[in-house]
Amino acid sequence: MSLDPFVRSLDAMLEEARALLSSATSAEDLEALRVRFTGAKSGALKTIQKGLAEVSPEDRPAAGKRFNEVRESLQALMDEASQRIGGGGRSKATRSRIDPTLPGQRPRIGVVHPITQTIEHLKEIMGRLGFTVAEGPEIEDEWHNFVALNIPEDHPARDPLDNFYLATAKSASPSRDAMETNLGSNDGTIGGPRLLRSQTSTVQIRVMENEPLPMRIISLGRVYRPDAPDATHFPMFHQMEGLWVDEHVTMAQLKSVLKLFATSYLGGDVKVRFRPSFFPFTEPSVEVDYWWNDQWIEFGGAGMVDPNVFRAVNIDSERWSGFAFGLGVERLCMRRFGITDIRDLYRSDVRFLRQFAT
Ligand code: PHE
Repeated sequence: MSLDPFVRSLDAMLEEARALLSSATSAEDLEALRVRFTGAKSGALKTIQKGLAEVSPEDRPAAGKRFNEVRESLQALMDEASQRIGGGGRSKATRSRIDPTLPGQRPRIGVVHPITQTIEHLKEIMGRLGFTVAEGPEIEDEWHNFVALNIPEDHPARDPLDNFYLATAKSASPSRDAMETNLGSNDGTIGGPRLLRSQTSTVQIRVMENEPLPMRIISLGRVYRPDAPDATHFPMFHQMEGLWVDEHVTMAQLKSVLKLFATSYLGGDVKVRFRPSFFPFTEPSVEVDYWWNDQWIEFGGAGMVDPNVFRAVNIDSERWSGFAFGLGVERLCMRRFGITDIRDLYRSDVRFLRQFAT
């Protein structure tokens, strides 16, 4: 191609653009013309630029120079039109579509999960009764989950099928010293097998090992048992553990603490019933039932701390006594909110969870 046809196509395009731009009246018109003439993919300018390669080499410098001039003129024409129409080009086009008189869009704000709400509520009530919050790890050793709690090696609660043991190397029957040296590491090779704690009673041991007496603590957290999920079972759930150790703690105090707690949490005058039971770490042991909405409902276990447990943590059981209790948090939560299937709590379905916004 020689120089002439190339320059002619440039000039023709510029004239066409000039005419169209001068009659453009809206930002939308302007945007359409911008795409048509200077669009990066198939704008007219781009198409002509491709022709530059076909111009004979000796004419190419002149062709390139003319091309640049036309491009600048085109840009100037568009700027001019944009000024006349109201400036801003594309962003203005979008902005002009915003109607400030329309109602706003409500931002989607999350709600606190009912279990978290329950936990906060329980902490608050027990705090008023003088209990401070203690914490412990969810990955435990057998010392804290069983041995120190007076649960012997052959006890059914230690069956591997009833616990989530971690896949770590096994060592011989763990002693306290061996395990203590390995706390904090989790390879299980020195301190014995590790498992997800099956009860918050582990925290009793940790606190009694480390804190001075007397003590009044609660521990709230997750526990794990390989139960098949149904309306009342889930492989992970929460417990609230309570422990009070002092010089003259009695079963009567246990009962009044649990009654005060239930009255505050469930509302009204809730009756508390103890049924004889057995736990390796308490003696005597009881099941705790609350009379609520015309029926007895089981909420957990309790009892006086067994002397063997005190011995494991070097507390003199002649001088000190204590009670411990463990309540199911889901049960308390479900009763209060009228939730009938525990699985609903853990499906992460916000349509369900949103109902419990506070
Ligand atoms: N740890 C017991 C359980 O998980 C509950 C319990 C706690 C019982 C403290 C007595 C004292 O069933």
